[in-house]
Amino acid sequence: IGRHIHYEESVESTQKIAQRLVLEEAPEGTIVIAEEQLAGKGRMGRKWHSPKYSGIWMSVILRPNLPPAKAPQLTLITAVAIVQAIEELTNVTPQIKWPNDILLNGKKLTGILTEMQADADRIISVIIGIGINVNQQREDYPEELESIATSLSIELGKKLERAELIKEVLYKLEKLYLLYLDKGFYPIKLLWESYAISIGKNITARMLTGSITGKAKGITEDGVLIIEDDLGELHHVYSADIELEK
Ligand code: BTN
Repeated sequence: IGRHIHYEESVESTQKIAQRLVLEEAPEGTIVIAEEQLAGKGRMGRKWHSPKYSGIWMSVILRPNLPPAKAPQLTLITAVAIVQAIEELTNVTPQIKWPNDILLNGKKLTGILTEMQADADRIISVIIGIGINVNQQREDYPEELESIATSLSIELGKKLERAELIKEVLYKLEKLYLLYLDKGFYPIKLLWESYAISIGKNITARMLTGSITGKAKGITEDGVLIIEDDLGELHHVYSADIELEK
């Protein structure tokens, strides 16, 4: 992963460039990195604030020979890789909030957006979009993000070399991806659960179709969140925003 690097100064979204590269048969492990995104994409149709030179905005192209239902696992692998990379370089351990937010001191540091192209039974390509807030200062954030988002430099009080972090993330991601292809999801699931904050806590999952409140029990083999409601009934949640009970 990262043997082919496509670098851009300014793009709308690295996901878009990666989609084009997929059509041009870019090899597995190709990455797209940009200094700035003018229309960074977040989950659920949201925007992702991606100012120049201050964060890591990149997309990774993978082509695993797997059924489409396995794609969410790749998001979870990526989250573990990012946590491990940050841990390695800074000695602080961020936490994962299902499915793919990485938090430091309760605020969002990283987002992951996975987009897949597949036919009925096989993945053709997966584009994993990674946004890591690295060197933003507090005053760089627009008001509406100030209370929910943070950066490594805000939390650690010093700037980080983005190139070092990119290298470490790709290194960890490749290691975990190979482990996953070799041994399956189970070893990753254990790692993921060790970094997850929501497991065992009371949470509310908000979906487009409504919300469920209960205790987060864990994730399934496919990375689906299991919530137990007050009546003891189990719910499987595929996609939602999670709120932790205070
Ligand atoms: C989220 O909503 O939490 C996911 C955010 C993902 C942002 C990254 S930045 C690189 C890649 N390109 C995009 O347009 N989005 C992803």
